[in-house]
Amino acid sequence: MKTTEKIGCGLLLTALLAFDVWGGDRLPAYKDAQRPVEERVEDLLQRMTLEEKVLQLNQYTLGRNDNVNNMADPVGDIPGEIGSLIYFGTSPELRNRLQYRAVEETRLGIPILFAFDVIHGFRTICPIPLAQACSWNPELVKKAAGVAARESSMSGVDWTFAPMIDVARDGRWGRVSEGYGEDPYANAVYCAAAVQGFQGDNLAEGPRMAACLKHYVGYGASEGGRDYVYTEVSRQTLWDTYLPPYESGVEAGALTVMSSFNDISGVPGSANPYTLTEVLKKRWKHDGFVVSDWGAIQQLRSQGVAADCAEAALKSFNAGLDMDMMNRCYDAHLADLVRAGKVSQERLDDAVRRVLRVKFRLGLFEHPYTPESTEEERFLRPEDLAVAEQLAAESMVLLKNEHNLLPIEKARRIAVIGPMAKSRFHLLGSWAAHGSGEDVESIFMGLEREFAGRAELSYAFGCGFDGEDTTGFAEAVSVARAADVVVLCLGEKANWSGENASRSTIALPAIQERLAREVAQCGKPVVLLLTSGRPLELCRLEPLSAAILQVWQPGVRGGAPAAGILSGRINPSGRLAITFPYATGQIPIYYNHRQSARPHQGKYQDIPSTPLYEFGHGLCYTTFSYGEPVVSCETFRRGDRITVEVDVTNTGSRDGAETVFWFVSDPVCRISRPVKELRHFEKRLLRSGETGRFRFEINPERDLAFVDEDGNRFLEPGDYYILVKDRKVKLTLVE
Ligand code: BGC
Repeated sequence: MKTTEKIGCGLLLTALLAFDVWGGDRLPAYKDAQRPVEERVEDLLQRMTLEEKVLQLNQYTLGRNDNVNNMADPVGDIPGEIGSLIYFGTSPELRNRLQYRAVEETRLGIPILFAFDVIHGFRTICPIPLAQACSWNPELVKKAAGVAARESSMSGVDWTFAPMIDVARDGRWGRVSEGYGEDPYANAVYCAAAVQGFQGDNLAEGPRMAACLKHYVGYGASEGGRDYVYTEVSRQTLWDTYLPPYESGVEAGALTVMSSFNDISGVPGSANPYTLTEVLKKRWKHDGFVVSDWGAIQQLRSQGVAADCAEAALKSFNAGLDMDMMNRCYDAHLADLVRAGKVSQERLDDAVRRVLRVKFRLGLFEHPYTPESTEEERFLRPEDLAVAEQLAAESMVLLKNEHNLLPIEKARRIAVIGPMAKSRFHLLGSWAAHGSGEDVESIFMGLEREFAGRAELSYAFGCGFDGEDTTGFAEAVSVARAADVVVLCLGEKANWSGENASRSTIALPAIQERLAREVAQCGKPVVLLLTSGRPLELCRLEPLSAAILQVWQPGVRGGAPAAGILSGRINPSGRLAITFPYATGQIPIYYNHRQSARPHQGKYQDIPSTPLYEFGHGLCYTTFSYGEPVVSCETFRRGDRITVEVDVTNTGSRDGAETVFWFVSDPVCRISRPVKELRHFEKRLLRSGETGRFRFEINPERDLAFVDEDGNRFLEPGDYYILVKDRKVKLTLVE
């Protein structure tokens, strides 16, 4: 029988089993879809041998791995009993073949869970997560995750290693591109949105995939912005900064969690009983499973806490790490560790239960195979591209607009210069899954369409992304001279950010800054269009540019929105989710820092001490004025609810979206608190002349309270301030 025929029979058999045509008596309880998940889990668990259990706790790879950071010999003969496979295919065919082996040719027929890194799209690549965060539109982020889930699940992927919710405040760290910026609350909100988008409304049916909260935890605190290194995270900071997004993800129902590579103050994330068991499983009651990061268990040896793989397996497993991703430690040692009594039967069963639970919840036993479909049915559908384009439009941030140079309304001759202008691939960013440069609309393509019939475009390459070749400068200068306005497209290559892509400086390479100087000397107004996977050091480029638009790495549909913002068709609405330092030497710099002992002193002698562009910064083509915030009660008692409202008026002549950020500050507390903390935000379109009333419903225990180093929330009597734009109101808690 051919494989497809076999799978056909398999499907029929599965369907028959699901419908229980032979009568409930003969159907093992775990195959009975009518029974509760927990009952099915227990029934299956008690049928499993030690070896079968151990295999469920391992993940290998399937297909051609092109992730340069994670090369390992593929496992030659994949056992059908394996728990999970990282699947590099773009069609379900290979997956179904392996699934057949698992479902039809093993004793118990436990389906395999197929995983992949779908970070900001599978084929329809959306902006990188850091850019998405600047949209302040969680609904749209959720939609984009839904698009990714559809393409992935139709291709045979059940589980994504996303969202990445590592609060990150060091732009040198390449992975800053993968998360939602510097603020814990923003990460928490976007995390919930992404989890809901990936997992859909009905886990057991339809386009969905399991989410994985990563990298648990504190990975964003990497010393010096280097990857994989030690992190110094106090319990206090763990609780107030790094854990909140994870708690939000658990509450949103994320099925899985990935442990982090970093050594958290001496106890690596992959062998940390406090974070993995105490907090995640006991306190938050997460009942899905924890997977290791790639090779992270065996890396406990490099981190100096395990002498060999057996000890590494023991430490990780007993700390609460359930599944081994390509370490080959659990498959090699776990059974022996159980036999030797070093790992308890109880702990083993707990881990297996967690993995099975996720498989049952995803409906894998009922629908183990992915239906075949054409690429046209799966990928790049117009409605999905529209989501990518809208998200790109809302995530771009207008950093500067001197004398309202933008929008470009009158210019007849536009010079488009720079290495990023015609680049397609580099707009995808890192972790672009199965995205292809051919799917991408370049900035130049977008401008051509946008300005067709209105302005004439000329182009010069100028220079490469790096290197020392200045031979393109002369052409760039002559093109700039002949134009009314210059659009200078500079930035980072896709692989300059992401994993294992740290930089010692966040400035663009010298050659690009030189090009900017040459072009600026022509005296024509320069619009700087920046593509990057991190905040950039712009102190030398900023004075050379009349306008700056940060387009990040916008994915497949960045050209049209960037051009639309330049032409005025789109009123920019992105606001920074991460601070742009004045210079790299200011790092770490973030808005929610704690107060200094001498706020008026301690400044740098050689550079300003304030950032170039703050968290929340972003311009648009209209103006908004804020009224006085009005509070429902100035004093309150525990258990009360308070409302603060503010009227915001669009005082300009164009419609525009405003994001209202509500911050909290607690000036005196037993633990010193950040100068201000974001607690709520809302983005809304206001027509020209329209006034909108924005509201912050305060639950004091949630919004005003702080957390101590044991994770206990406390609310102290005294004054609190609610800050909105440049206004503030005082609230007082009385006992
Ligand atoms: C990364 C993870 C990723 C995993 C699987 C690791 O190197 O740190 O973010 O999910 O590889 O590709």
